Amino acid sequence: MNSIDLQTVLIDLGARSYHIAIRGSLFDNPLSYAELPAAQSALIVTNTTVGPLYAAQLQKALSGKYPQVHTVVLPDGEAFKTWESLNLIFDALLQHGCDRKTTLFALGGGVVGDMTGFAAASYMRGVPFVQVPTTLLAQVDSSVGGKTAINHPLGKNMIGAFYQPLKVVCDLHTLKSLPARELSAGLAEVIKYGPIADMALMAWLEAHMTDVMAREPAALAQVVKRSCEIKAWVVGQDERESGLRAILNFGHTFGHAIEAGLGYGQWLHGEAVGAGMVMAAHLSLRLGLVDALFVARLTRLIAQAGLPVQGAVLDAADNAGRYLALMHLDKKSEAGDIKFVLIDGPGRAIVRTAPEAMVRQVIDLCCSEKILKI
Ligand code: NAD
Ligand code: GLY
Repeated sequence: MNSIDLQTVLIDLGARSYHIAIRGSLFDNPLSYAELPAAQSALIVTNTTVGPLYAAQLQKALSGKYPQVHTVVLPDGEAFKTWESLNLIFDALLQHGCDRKTTLFALGGGVVGDMTGFAAASYMRGVPFVQVPTTLLAQVDSSVGGKTAINHPLGKNMIGAFYQPLKVVCDLHTLKSLPARELSAGLAEVIKYGPIADMALMAWLEAHMTDVMAREPAALAQVVKRSCEIKAWVVGQDERESGLRAILNFGHTFGHAIEAGLGYGQWLHGEAVGAGMVMAAHLSLRLGLVDALFVARLTRLIAQAGLPVQGAVLDAADNAGRYLALMHLDKKSEAGDIKFVLIDGPGRAIVRTAPEAMVRQVIDLCCSEKILKI
């Protein structure tokens, strides 16, 4: 993958601007970190899966710059995106006597990235941090834009902060060790950018999904770069989600209900978003915003990426009721109204409410096998 030139994408946020660097052999190269501010110490935050694969190489790359490089290893998984894990980061920072300049490095997927960012936002009221994402999902979405959080048993990502990293280092080589199911999960966040913002990306994915699934280097580079460009465009206009940024949650309102309803970690976040996008597309169809052809096209692409298109049954007695109860806790909800990200014609998203009876019909359809035959 080193035959691929270094790609950079700027997140333009005035004084908080930063670059995303994209290529193979980046995370273990000291030059990737050369421009970061000097400090006495760095803390690598990783987990029990990614640590053994990559932490020693990152430690080596950082050791010329920081006199002390410490590592904290968290338990792996969405079920551990909790206060308890967050506290392990604070324990390490305090035990090692880390100061206000200590730089945190999030080495892992979105779970590690979100928790490290939140720890960086709150330790001594804010210390610098760098994202070193190692999943496709984290490279195309979660490491970019400064949303940090932990889960609450009652709701996903309910406790957190907006806090931007100093840099994002997307090393495409790390994707080689990613399990196939996780690659598919990452593709959900790539696919979402098409219907909400860029139909050319959707057409490109339809033509190149086999190359992407085979991890063909040029295809992966294209996917990560274009996704980051779209995210940069959105976040640059609406960093704190007062409007436009909500479109990045296409499929997430239904998806978060699946994750919380089944218990975190049962379905991967990307899998829940995959099925959630199908539900959101059908809701858009019923509201007359898109046609059936578009919904079928999107559903096919989601299936092509190895993602579920049929929603999970959360409650055999009143499935739609359970979804609705969980979706009322969504962060976009206001005054009890659930706000959905819907497709308002291919390539354009809107955020709006929908009649409850219609939402119930969509959930009933999309959680039944009938959806597989449409
Ligand atoms: P994850 O962090 O759980 O990683 C998935 C799995 O892959 C884990 O088991 C991890 O240990 C393993 N892994 C990571 N890199 C690997 C590698 N290179 N080789 C082998 N295994 C590797 O999940 P994720 O899909 O990366 O992220 C999902 C999380 O991201 C969710 O909590 C979601 O809420 C969050 N998210 C945040 C944002 C945001 O804007 N902050 C956006 C989207 C998603
Ligand atoms: N992934 C949603 C956002 O960053 O806003």
